[in-house]
Amino acid sequence: MEKYWVARKDEIIEGACKLVSVRGIEFGIFKVQGEFYAWRNVCPHFGAPVCKGAITSTRLPSNVYEYKLGREDEILRCPWHGWEFDLITGEHLVDPSVKLRRGKLENPEDGRENLEKGELETLTEDIYVWL
Ligand code: FES
Repeated sequence: MEKYWVARKDEIIEGACKLVSVRGIEFGIFKVQGEFYAWRNVCPHFGAPVCKGAITSTRLPSNVYEYKLGREDEILRCPWHGWEFDLITGEHLVDPSVKLRRGKLENPEDGRENLEKGELETLTEDIYVWL
């Protein structure tokens, strides 16, 4: 595997996505609760460019006729059919067995990776994707 520079840390803001292409594969780079994530720009449902969807909130469990929203800027909604994915885990909100595909992020200073739990530490200004 090799690492590829994709962004400066300060250009990734919460509630937005930077689309990048690494060796012809598109990724969306996101920042959620201060952590960075890279998700393939392919929806697991029908292949839409999911990272071009809205970064939004979702409905929380509530009583009938009550509409509570929460998790602002933590949810990615696919632009084709509206499936919602957790930007931290990549899981579909209704069926967690359906997931976005992950890119690996690394901080070149300490070598720690953002894999299963989004534990990237960003001591430097750069973000890399491993392929
Ligand atoms: S292609 Fe993404 S929800 Fe259908």
